[in-house]
Amino acid sequence: MNTNTVILVIGANGQLGSVLTTSLQEKYGVDQVIASDLRKREGFNGVFEVVDATDINRIHEVVTQYKVTQIYHLAAILSAKGEENPLQTWDINMKTLFNVLEVSRLHEIEKVFFPSSIAVFGEGANLDNTPNNSYLDPSTVYGISKAAGENWAQYYYTKYGLDVRSIRYPGVIGYQSMPGGGTTDYAVDIFHKAVLKEEFNCFLKEDTMLPMIFMEDAIRATIELMEAPKEDISLRTSYNIAGISFSPAQVVEEIRKLYPEFKVNYAPDFRQEIAASWPKSIDDTVARNDWGWKANFDLKGIAEIMMAKLKEKYKNGSKNLETLLL
Ligand code: SER
Repeated sequence: MNTNTVILVIGANGQLGSVLTTSLQEKYGVDQVIASDLRKREGFNGVFEVVDATDINRIHEVVTQYKVTQIYHLAAILSAKGEENPLQTWDINMKTLFNVLEVSRLHEIEKVFFPSSIAVFGEGANLDNTPNNSYLDPSTVYGISKAAGENWAQYYYTKYGLDVRSIRYPGVIGYQSMPGGGTTDYAVDIFHKAVLKEEFNCFLKEDTMLPMIFMEDAIRATIELMEAPKEDISLRTSYNIAGISFSPAQVVEEIRKLYPEFKVNYAPDFRQEIAASWPKSIDDTVARNDWGWKANFDLKGIAEIMMAKLKEKYKNGSKNLETLLL
């Protein structure tokens, strides 16, 4: 391992960013990882800088101060939240990406990670076992920003040789942190409600199949991609990765094995339409062939771990979800 590796994580308070930061600290050392977000995280163990990624000068400053060699840019407004203010979502998602790409080019950053999403696909793609090179006609501004971002990532690689790598994440399910503003968020919230013995109001129809992935798999995929030899990376837009596909009804079935009384009301809202435009399942052949990707967790395994871990957390902590973060 390169002992000079210094990693800047932008969006380190987010659902994925918070857990990824801890994994990177474990792997590279606490002092080698600079966590950053709009607000300082109370009780954070490690180096933290307040960074608004729409401010390129602030990113320059932090990269210079810590001699950063890698950037993971995880800040973005997600699919459902993004629809509230489409132009602002475009501005924020693109501005922050351009800032990261430009700073990386100017500072000759070794590697950059840019997360894409299943939201890049739309009805122009075959939504069953969606191949990597499908036609992209995203239905949300979030998806449009990710599809554009993928092309910009490839552009910076081709034009400037910047080593940008990217994954199209499915919905990420973890007990460590809460998602916010996504269409796949129900698949985390539902476990919290089950463990708290509360009813769940599901904003998707019961048979809505979506691709999902367990947090451990998502983090491992990210680190495996970033550590893969450069010559193995054949895709400079973004890699499909599959975890497991399921519907709300299938999660409820798993939950009721432990909580037979668990009650769910289905009240689909605007997110149903977004979900309907996304793949039901993902073909990740290219990631498998290029860097050996393979998911470990199925729905049964995910459900068991989610319920056990959340039960433990709620037993030890308060009901306030903020205090449950990590
Ligand atoms: N989880 C994201 C969302 O629902 C998809 O990338 O917006």
